[in-house]
Amino acid sequence: MSEKNLYLPYLMRIDKVTEEAPSVKTFRLKFVNEEEGKKFTFKAGQFGEYSVFGEGESTFCIASSPTRDGYIECTFRQAGRVTTALANLGEGDTVGFRGPYGNVFPIDDWKGKNLLFIAGGIALPPMRCVIWNCLDLRENFKDFTIVYGAKSVNDLVYKHELKEWEERPDVNLITTVDPGGETPDWKGEVGFVPTIVEKTAPKAENTIAIVCGPPIMIKFTFPVLEKLGFKEENIYTTLENRMKCGFGKCGRCNVGKVFVCKDGPVFNLTQLKDLPPEY
Ligand SMILES: Cc1cc2nc3c(=O)[nH]c(=O)nc-3n(C[C@H](O)[C@H](O)[C@H](O)COP(=O)(O)OP(=O)(O)OC[C@H]3O[C@@H](n4cnc5c(N)ncnc54)[C@H](O)[C@@H]3O)c2cc1C
Ligand code: FES
Repeated sequence: MSEKNLYLPYLMRIDKVTEEAPSVKTFRLKFVNEEEGKKFTFKAGQFGEYSVFGEGESTFCIASSPTRDGYIECTFRQAGRVTTALANLGEGDTVGFRGPYGNVFPIDDWKGKNLLFIAGGIALPPMRCVIWNCLDLRENFKDFTIVYGAKSVNDLVYKHELKEWEERPDVNLITTVDPGGETPDWKGEVGFVPTIVEKTAPKAENTIAIVCGPPIMIKFTFPVLEKLGFKEENIYTTLENRMKCGFGKCGRCNVGKVFVCKDGPVFNLTQLKDLPPEY
């Protein structure tokens, strides 16, 4: 980032648009200034502020892996003003990007461990970054399990990548949809994510669990993991408190003394239990 003006965004060209699910799109973004692109680095777990000129900024994680050079990707659901303006853009259009901000998933500390990824709905994007990062370093980890659920088959995002993960012999992918969300040819599970985690009972020993999803899913998944024997410090999530500046200046995102944009958004369960209850 420029040291003169922390709010100055990089200019990014939309290189590719993928329709993932109803109202959910992925943008592949390339730096308009290639030199800036070559210098840019980030780590799994970080986020950015994406802007549509004249409309404002929205906070999204970086959904692509840092192991893939030359572009970044974001996946967003059309929710309000800025995401609607973004959704109306297409390939070749220019957007702004500030970042990367926030802390990171401590992937280096996970070497030699089993990894269990649990995601619900539109919360697969922050997970996708760390999944691909770890898959690109696959030899560093032991068992690799992904549990992913959505309301309905149509709402599953990254369908092409789910197929790829399903076909990999070194990945155990479990997909589920909420009761009533299945189609006649659906071969996955039917049930809410915490129920499916309990049913498939992944082993807790030497395993790191990364959980991203709507608050209700997270609320019911943590106790299941604790019941299965997972240690608090081995359970990670990423928070999505509303943000403005992204780097600890505006006070929009803080919970008690913690700035989610700077001290997070990645927290383990021990750290979360220390936060005031309103997080
Ligand atoms: C660290 C972080 C990472 C995020 N990553 C993603 C991502 O990868 N993909 C994605 O689609 N979204 C993500 N979000 C949420 C995203 O920032 C908001 O949905 C988006 O900014 C809404 O912008 P808008 O201008 O279109 O909506 P607004 O017009 O501002 O709001 C529309 C509706 O969305 C609600 N809303 C806005 N922001 C949030 C929020 N942070 N949490 C819950 N509700 C909100 C508003 O209350 C309102 O009901 C992330 C948020 C954070 C803080
Ligand atoms: S978003 Fe401004 S302080 Fe965190």
